[in-house]
Amino acid sequence: MTLTTLGLPAIRRDDDEPPAEMPRSGPLVDTFGRVATDLRVSLTDRCNLRCTYCMPAEGLDWLPGDELLTRDELVRLLTLAVTRLGITSVRFTGGEPLLYRELEDVVSAVAALRPRPEIALTTNGLGLARRAQALADAGLNRVNVSLDTVDAEHFAAITRRDRLTDVLDGLSAAAAAGLGPVKVNAVLDHDSGLDDAVELLEYCLRHGYQLRIIEQMPLDASHLWRRDANLGADEIFAALAAHFDLTPDPAPRGSAPAQLWRVNGGPATVGIIASVSHAFCSACDRTRLTADGQIRNCLFSAEESDLCVLLRRGADDDALESAWRAAMWRKAAGHGINNPDFVQPQRPMSAIGG
Ligand code: 5AD
Ligand code: SF4
Repeated sequence: MTLTTLGLPAIRRDDDEPPAEMPRSGPLVDTFGRVATDLRVSLTDRCNLRCTYCMPAEGLDWLPGDELLTRDELVRLLTLAVTRLGITSVRFTGGEPLLYRELEDVVSAVAALRPRPEIALTTNGLGLARRAQALADAGLNRVNVSLDTVDAEHFAAITRRDRLTDVLDGLSAAAAAGLGPVKVNAVLDHDSGLDDAVELLEYCLRHGYQLRIIEQMPLDASHLWRRDANLGADEIFAALAAHFDLTPDPAPRGSAPAQLWRVNGGPATVGIIASVSHAFCSACDRTRLTADGQIRNCLFSAEESDLCVLLRRGADDDALESAWRAAMWRKAAGHGINNPDFVQPQRPMSAIGG
């Protein structure tokens, strides 16, 4: 069996001479004046589902264990992010972050930091029913559960696993544990997606979950994404508007990527994230840390900064801080998906984190 290789960027920086004009303290800024306050941490590149738009059926050739940050290395970087770089929100992602055994422990370490950041989790929901309360007790504030359909057959076709009930149980356990507002993230299938979206919104309205539908981005491991094959925000909106009364949500959007619509007069909302058709990069407030200790300044960057190597060479906190700041200083204005010369990043979504 040939595994799809987990493509990793050829350009990895670990010897940065920070630019003279880069600020050495204060907020984590880039040359366009954006401030990163939201840290996305991918805890593992492994997953127990095989969503067709993300991974091949046989999985990927996972990151080797000795290249993953240890728990102590991870907590050291998280501490630095919160206490020196002004990170106010930490979201754990994957792969599937519930596969990371020490998740509760890392959540409680982050919850003990001051100023205390908001802590969120993006998960596929498998096993969440068993762990939601312990995670809430450890200090987790909110969850986003990835769910593309509530039709069991469609679910099995999209994820290649017959596990819809586990996800739905995970959602209700999260709500019961107070991990709200519980959000549902959906990426729509190009064939059944518009019908799935209507059913999914009905389900979310019934249970009090907030649905966010995300345009599919070119981040699949097999590089099969095609612009014309995917559903765009306008089509998704039209399909929902045929069944629900949608009015623009008056709340200010800030750096949130979702355009929010009030459903049937509110207070419930549905979000449509037009990551491809209407990029929101100019308001981006994110910085990303991968399970193998790379800083990515964008989902789509071709380049990473290797904090794992620096840590293992014995770098002090000043050197780590400076390398992280330099990585963000180089952040591009936008992802460029719509440019003719766009090149899909080597590292797939499952090894970056959503
Ligand atoms: N485009 C958009 N979203 C994606 N996700 C996974 N792959 C893609 C893609 N190619 C979503 C998952 C999950 C989150 C982590 O990212 O559905 O909600
Ligand atoms: Fe931010 Fe990059 Fe995503 Fe744009 S594509 S929102 S810059 S992470």
